[in-house]
Amino acid sequence: MNKENRFDKSAETWDTSDTRVMLAQNIYEAIVKNIELRQDMEMIDFGAGTGLLSRNIALHVKSLLGVDTSSGMLAKLDELGRENINTLHIDICAYETQIKYDGIVSSMTMHHVQNLDLLFTKMNELLKEGGFVAIADLMSEDGTFHNDNDGVHHFGFDEDELIELAQKHGFSDVKYQRIFDVNKEGKEPYGIFLLTAKK
Ligand SMILES: C[S@@+](CC[C@H](N)C(=O)[O-])C[C@H]1O[C@@H](n2cnc3c(N)ncnc32)[C@H](O)[C@@H]1O
Repeated sequence: MNKENRFDKSAETWDTSDTRVMLAQNIYEAIVKNIELRQDMEMIDFGAGTGLLSRNIALHVKSLLGVDTSSGMLAKLDELGRENINTLHIDICAYETQIKYDGIVSSMTMHHVQNLDLLFTKMNELLKEGGFVAIADLMSEDGTFHNDNDGVHHFGFDEDELIELAQKHGFSDVKYQRIFDVNKEGKEPYGIFLLTAKK
């Protein structure tokens, strides 16, 4: 099963998971605490999925483009019918446009992106000067977070490696902070980080 099919199949029930809703809510709160969002901003949420993060971020900005490789997930986001949210069915690394964005947010998606150099190059290209990224995902873990690791290219991310990667791609003010933990029965807590940086 490829990752598109995998998410297409979970789209219908995605929002019924308390853990996913809690994750997105905590990530949203961490983003607004760390980044000053404004009503004139044009944003991207990559791996937007059904919009658990997008729908809240969009309340603070002019527009948000939800980019995702799963048409099923995006169909759920479209169903919300939010005026300032548009969707684009594409791999974020392949998004070609002349538009420059004020910010890029993302929740629990980067571990599905194989080539991080390509991702950071693309994010840099998509941002205006002074634009920001605010990306939340798993801290390094032992591969037990997901029941099925199909399409999982990274078992979380190490702080030093991620900071180095962002700096290598020209980002400044790079900050990696543990924002909360996810507890699963019988397992050590999984840390969730927020990476913020400026172009
Ligand atoms: C774990 S889900 C997270 C969805 C949503 N952000 C949330 O917090 O509920 C990861 C999402 O990223 C999408 N995805 C994976 N790789 C992607 C890529 N390279 N570009 C865009 N979307 C991608 C998947 O289709 C899926 O919808």
